[in-house]
Amino acid sequence: MPGDWVVYFFLAFLSGSKIILYYRLEYQRMQVNGKNHSGGSWNKLWGGDMNIIVLHGSPRKGGDSDMLAETFLAETLLHRDCEVRHFYLNEMSIKPCQGCLECGRDEKHRCIQEDDMQQIYEAFGKAEIVVWATPMYWGYMTAQMKLALDRMEALVMADGWRDKIFAVFLTYHYHVASTVNFFERVCPFFETELHIITCRTMIESTGQEISVQDMPDKLEEVRILAKKLANN
Ligand SMILES: Cc1cc2nc3c(=O)[nH]c(=O)nc-3n(C[C@H](O)[C@H](O)[C@H](O)COP(=O)(O)O)c2cc1C
Repeated sequence: MPGDWVVYFFLAFLSGSKIILYYRLEYQRMQVNGKNHSGGSWNKLWGGDMNIIVLHGSPRKGGDSDMLAETFLAETLLHRDCEVRHFYLNEMSIKPCQGCLECGRDEKHRCIQEDDMQQIYEAFGKAEIVVWATPMYWGYMTAQMKLALDRMEALVMADGWRDKIFAVFLTYHYHVASTVNFFERVCPFFETELHIITCRTMIESTGQEISVQDMPDKLEEVRILAKKLANN
């Protein structure tokens, strides 16, 4: 944010020190690299004015769907001071929904399963933007993502999807329609603002795999979306 740069320059000027500016630059670099700042002091100190959570569905950390999400975040952070929390679902202990519907009966719509999903419930409530980044596995989002999605029954019971912004990044080789359809069908029901970017990581004519990194137009599409949402 331009405002906090002014503060940093002012502090640096007063103290005659470049260290403060160095820390500001280092902070920005860490954000661009997508580190988790949820518990970090910098965002708390200066107060991110937008909360973003990122649900990473791929077991391939740093893979193509992660790269789309990171590109989105890097661009967003250039325009807006944000608090970002990453959830690498593959590394989390999230049990399947048991269909008990306790979340429907409980006054606060809590899920009775005490596992890592509780962290997502808490962060989801505060988030303005929810980033869903997942590859397609056997015709749908990954199992890791689907586990978390099923457990969102508790959130939905509490009307927790209403007025959120979803930025969905889907990577695939052959087929993406089922997951696109899911989001397009469900989001209007909760008046969730939905943005989907799909990315085919295979060249159709040759069957050769291609990385998102080698698709400048796709990365630009992601940056344009980030800029738009950041300036909303
Ligand atoms: C087990 C497995 C199943 C897959 N199933 C599908 C599929 O059903 N449809 C499809 O289009 N791509 C499928 N793919 C390809 C991935 O969606 C694609 O490689 C994606 O770009 C990987 O993204 P990532 O780097 O974020 O993990 C599959 C890949 C794996 C490993």
